[in-house]
Amino acid sequence: MNLKILVTAGDGIGPEVTNEAVAVLKEIAAQGGHDFAFTAKRIGGVAIVADGTPLPDETLAAALASDAVLLGAVGGNEFNSLPPDKRPEAGLLKIRAELGGFANLRPAFAFRELAVNSPLRHEIVDGADILFVRELLGGLYFGKPREWNRTAGEAWNTMRYTREEVARVARVAFDLACKRRKKLTSVDKANVLEVSQLWRATVNEVAAEFPGVTLEHQYVDAMAMHLMNRPRDFDVVLTENLFGDILSDESAVITGSLGMLPSATIGGKVNLYEPVHGSAPDIAGKGLANPLGAILTGALILRHSGGLEAEAAAIEASVRKVLEQGFRTPDLARGNASGFTVLSTKEMGAKVRETLSESLSRRGAAQAV
Ligand code: IPM
Ligand code: MG
Repeated sequence: MNLKILVTAGDGIGPEVTNEAVAVLKEIAAQGGHDFAFTAKRIGGVAIVADGTPLPDETLAAALASDAVLLGAVGGNEFNSLPPDKRPEAGLLKIRAELGGFANLRPAFAFRELAVNSPLRHEIVDGADILFVRELLGGLYFGKPREWNRTAGEAWNTMRYTREEVARVARVAFDLACKRRKKLTSVDKANVLEVSQLWRATVNEVAAEFPGVTLEHQYVDAMAMHLMNRPRDFDVVLTENLFGDILSDESAVITGSLGMLPSATIGGKVNLYEPVHGSAPDIAGKGLANPLGAILTGALILRHSGGLEAEAAAIEASVRKVLEQGFRTPDLARGNASGFTVLSTKEMGAKVRETLSESLSRRGAAQAV
């Protein structure tokens, strides 16, 4: 398998965690005889400083010429006073729009080993395995008009969706539900918002194409509560852009740390892969960042851009094994370090690679017999 992967590491902990993800992918390539070619380009705050724009043309052109883009994180405190269209985040939103992926898959899986990290009781989170499908190119993030009129002391954004935009992301969610536990929960605010009424009506129409999937609708406020009370009841959760942003961070409580969550954006010209966590400027460059979200994001590249399901699953199994063995980054050890071996970002990456290479060579040996 040949894959051209553009790495836009971005700001804060982005470079540290993407380095580890790339090293894991290189391990897969070396062991399996694949050809993964990596290129690096700037995005976000580092690009504002070096190039005067959060998404340089060169980065976008390289992204469009790749098979997959692995993005670290964008954002930093020094840019907080800039208007939305000049901030590092604008580069992220622009690359999302230009690559065209509208379905952002955010799996939230409760690793048994991390149950103590969740403030929820283990009997609530044990076995929780949710796949959020967040619409990524519509809603308040992109809707126009948008403005902060300082003279009038008034600001507005627009939540807008077309039937087509809802239908295409709903189809992706139903398709994924077919391959999982065949349950889809669509989240909206149809008791108040017209956009949500369109959303709900369209999801109901698309549901007719997928008779094998059980569909339910939830209001977003109730859903925020159900996720904490009974996360195991959900399989695939379909939401619009802002609701998905909020609920996916909330789901970090189920998994124990935001640092564990990967994401993949599909459906456009080039798939975009990003860990869900942000740039965490407070811990950047200190070797404290958890690379597992980025490494699991690397697994999603193999699954969704490489068709390498076994290799993706091998990375996920290695992450689990490393956790089983008591290895933790500081966010996961959370002061409760007894019985854990606390590792730096690089050490954690190396541990995953070591475990992965053992399991791949065992598999290779078994196949050779
Ligand atoms: C996310 C992030 C981004 C978003 C920010 C950094 C623009 O919070 O990917 O969840 O809101 O989509
Ligand atoms: Mg977010």
